[in-house]
Amino acid sequence: MSAFDAANMDQNFEITWGNSHAHMINNNIDQVISLSLDKASGSSFGSKNQYLFGKVDMQLKLVHGNSAGTVTSYYLHSEGLTWDEIDFEFLGNVSGDPYVVHNNIYTQGKGNREQQFYLCFFVDGIPIREFKNHESTSGISFPSKKPMRVYGSIWDAEDWATKGGLVKTNWTEAPFTASFKNFNANACVWSYAASSCTSNSSSSSVGEWITQGLGAIGEEKMKWVHRNYMIYNYCTDMKRFPNGLPPECTISVTKESKFNTNK
Ligand SMILES: *[C@@H]1O[C@H](CO)[C@@H](O)[C@H](O)[C@H]1NC(C)=O
Repeated sequence: MSAFDAANMDQNFEITWGNSHAHMINNNIDQVISLSLDKASGSSFGSKNQYLFGKVDMQLKLVHGNSAGTVTSYYLHSEGLTWDEIDFEFLGNVSGDPYVVHNNIYTQGKGNREQQFYLCFFVDGIPIREFKNHESTSGISFPSKKPMRVYGSIWDAEDWATKGGLVKTNWTEAPFTASFKNFNANACVWSYAASSCTSNSSSSSVGEWITQGLGAIGEEKMKWVHRNYMIYNYCTDMKRFPNGLPPECTISVTKESKFNTNK
C-alpha cells in the first residue's frame, strides 16, 4: 500500500494536454488517471519527476469495444532537439480484432526503429524487446544520458492506425477512454543536474533492477513473443533500408545465430 498511497497520482503526475478530458481519481480505493478522446480533443499526462535509469511499472486499461482509429500511448521522453524516447503505442481496432502494440526507440532525436506485435498476450513481466548498449564498441547511440519523464496519452490517428488507415474512428461512440493506475518507479530521479543514485551507490541501496538483465528465461520468453506475435521488425525490412540495415540490427543478428548454433 505504501507505494500507492492516496496522494500518489497527484504527487507523481500532472495533466499536460486536454485538461477537461483528463481526470485524476485519488481516493482510498483508486488512484487512477483516466484519459478520454472525442472529436474536440485527446488528452495526456506527464510525470513531474525526470528519471535517468529505472524500472517503471504502470497498469493500463485500454479503450474497450470499438477502439479503431484511436491510439493510447505510454512512453518515456527527454527534452530538447536531440531527445531520447521509448514508445509503446497501443493501436486500437474494431471490436473483437486484436490491438497492436507499436514500439519505437529514439536516440539523439532519431527513431526509425519500429517493431509491432499483436497484443494477444499479457505484456506483464514478458519482455518484448531488448535494445542493448553497444555505444562504446560501435558508436550506436544509447539512451543513457538524458533524463526522461513518463507520459501517457490518448489521441486520434484514424488516418493510419487501424488496418493501415482503412478503418476510421467511429465518433458516434466517443468519448473513448483509457485509464492508467498503480504507477511505481524504481528509478534514479534526476534533479538539479544530479541523479538520486550516485555513481558509487550499490545495487542493495538502489535496487535489484540496476543490475538486472533478461537472463536465459527472459531471452526465451522474448523469442517466443517474437516467433508468435511479432508483426513488423525494422531489422528485417530490406525494402525500407536498401543501402543496408541499421547497424544495431546486424549486431543482434550475429548474436542470434550464435544462440542457434549453441542449441
Ligand atoms: C486489427 O485487426 C486485424 C485483423 O482483423 C489485423 O490485421 C490488424 O493488424 C489489427 N490491428 C490494427 C492496428 O490494424
